[in-house]
Amino acid sequence: TGMFTFNPGYTASGSCVSAITYIDGGKGQLLYRGYKIEDLAANCTFIETCFLLLYGELPTASDLADFEERVKDEMLVHEKLKDFFKDFNPKAHPMAIMCSVIGALSSFYHEDLDIEDPKQRERVAIQMIAKFPTLAAFSSRTSMGLPMVYPRRDLSYTENFLHMMFSDPMDQEAVIEPVMTEALDKILLLHADHEQNASTSTVRIAGSSKANPFACISAGIASLWGPAHGGANQACIEMLQEIGEAENIPKYIEKAKNKNYPFRIMGFGHRVYKNFDPRATVMAKMCKKVVETMDSKNQEMLSIALELERIALENDYFISRKLYPNVDFYSGIVLQELSIPTNMFTVIFALARTIGWVCQWKEMMSEDTVKIGSPRQLYVVEKCKEFVAMNER
Ligand code: CMC
Repeated sequence: TGMFTFNPGYTASGSCVSAITYIDGGKGQLLYRGYKIEDLAANCTFIETCFLLLYGELPTASDLADFEERVKDEMLVHEKLKDFFKDFNPKAHPMAIMCSVIGALSSFYHEDLDIEDPKQRERVAIQMIAKFPTLAAFSSRTSMGLPMVYPRRDLSYTENFLHMMFSDPMDQEAVIEPVMTEALDKILLLHADHEQNASTSTVRIAGSSKANPFACISAGIASLWGPAHGGANQACIEMLQEIGEAENIPKYIEKAKNKNYPFRIMGFGHRVYKNFDPRATVMAKMCKKVVETMDSKNQEMLSIALELERIALENDYFISRKLYPNVDFYSGIVLQELSIPTNMFTVIFALARTIGWVCQWKEMMSEDTVKIGSPRQLYVVEKCKEFVAMNER
């Protein structure tokens, strides 16, 4: 009934009205609440960007201080939730753990949660971004068999994550170089929101049935996990490691061009950006700075990435398809330089994108009527068959 358009991958369907993020793929422009990503990356912290995304305006100094305190107040998780980590397969991927434990938050926040109340929705948003780094660090440490470390009130949001990842509860406070905090904060800021991509649309569709928001975010995490989306940063670093030496690059370029292989150059191409990804420009600069400032163990990997980019951008295959490096082409090298385990790369993307997911959910829930998301299909088998009894088949 009604109008039906067949549109696989929803490339030509607008699914909602939103005032959070704007992308002009042709111009390579990304705006959060009207502000250019380049300006935000140069002048703001991630937590300041969270305030902007959540409330629509940049905070004053006192707004920001209050907001940071409210987030810190929510950083601990129920102690019972810690027990949940014990029984995972010791080799579990941290994304597998995150899908479960974020979903499990719904078991602590459900009966008393009224999602029709805007104040409670705001609290959910703060709880989500506050508890995510704690649970993300727990998921990494549990997969390494290390004890969990609690957040500290005197540290910033991003410092707290690094502290929970790398400190030792006996006596060792992790040494967190300012450039490490700056680099991770930049990664979080650049990934904070990106309008209606696969994971955000998943969160919106799940939420459109008025399901528990913590469970909806867990659905978003599942969607983000794949290598075509948030898994690209891990896949990219693994690809660069496999390439190993600059002389092998042409072989990989040929493999990517050959349609007989499913292989793609990871960290290249984007559904929306068909000119350049403005986040990649900021990330490439940050990557060079981190590699130069730290002990440069990734110098070789950065040279391979730069050379791969150079060769690809001169190649007709990539030029004609408008394939450019995306944000994740360089973010993996930065994370590796910060000693973040490779299997945590996508978790860090999820940590960053949580603010986007929760703002998009909140925006949808504030509409007068929330329309349940249910796309149509093109059915391809006969309409109706005669039933055949078991003994006649
Ligand atoms: N390497 C080689 N060929 C590619 C690549 C690539 N990375 N990306 C696209 N192509 C080709 C593709 O084979 C197709 O060629 P043809 O027209 O001859 O069949 C053409 O370019 C168009 O590709 P598409 O798959 O129709 O484009 P899409 O908009 O559906 O996909 C994408 C976008 C990001 C999934 C894709 O470019 C890709 O798989 N990239 C590698 C994975 C990656 O880096 N993902 C991270 C995206 S940025 C972070 C995020 O937002 O999640």
